[in-house]
Amino acid sequence: MAVADYDEIGVGYARHRLPDPRLAAQFERALGDASTVLNVGAGTGSYESVDRTVVAVEPSAVMAAQRPAGAAPVVRAVVEDLPFAGGTFDAATMFLTLHHWADWRVGLREVRRVAGKLVIFTFEPGAHAHCWVVRDYLPAAGRTRSALAPHLDEVVRALPGARVEVVPVPHDCTDGFLWAYWRRPEQYLDPDVRRGISAIAQLPPHEVEPGMARLAADLESGRWHDEHADLLDLDEVDGGFRLVVVG
Ligand SMILES: C[S@@+](CC[C@H](N)C(=O)[O-])C[C@H]1O[C@@H](n2cnc3c(N)ncnc32)[C@H](O)[C@@H]1O
Repeated sequence: MAVADYDEIGVGYARHRLPDPRLAAQFERALGDASTVLNVGAGTGSYESVDRTVVAVEPSAVMAAQRPAGAAPVVRAVVEDLPFAGGTFDAATMFLTLHHWADWRVGLREVRRVAGKLVIFTFEPGAHAHCWVVRDYLPAAGRTRSALAPHLDEVVRALPGARVEVVPVPHDCTDGFLWAYWRRPEQYLDPDVRRGISAIAQLPPHEVEPGMARLAADLESGRWHDEHADLLDLDEVDGGFRLVVVG
């Protein structure tokens, strides 16, 4: 994805993309005792450690401008060409950014050059297409660039020693990415919520509105609840989100 895309679709991101405390705890555990951290594709600063020295890298001005006062300093750069000397950081974090890079292999090589440990929050390539909102109502969202993460086994092969953890999505996830509302279907009807989900935000209105009208009708008639009764008792699901940890 070109950086300009986030200058367009990143408006209002901070409103619905609040870091989820359960995900944050899992990411913090993975970071272990790292004290200096580079957060790449940092966006509005979600999941940045408060107890460590963090430097953020973010190419989009719109995203950088939404960082809260007191957030870590941000360097405007792309991962494929990081302006840091080798071995500058104990660790690097990458939260839901890998699939947006122009070249993830080059980006990961750069990150490994400047940091020791790597903590990468990403998802299986089919994760979006398997979510009911995409499968049943917005199939075009499953084909957008934002839905196409690199294959996890290729990422792991590129990172010797990498281990992979499942990152479950809680039913009340506060970070409004595509799967966040799997048990709160009415949320997808809110255009503001959809703006925070890049795979949907990239679609033209004629590819969104008919599906959302059908979802509204299915909620009204009770059909959605009948078809998804199995989800309503679950507290969390495996939506294909993964944490790749190296070092
Ligand atoms: C979905 S947002 C994630 C932001 C933040 N990490 C979070 O979890 O909320 C993806 C971010 O990756 C950034 N990005 C896109 N291409 C990039 C690149 N080549 N190098 C570094 N960051 C990039 C975008 O500007 C955007 O802020």
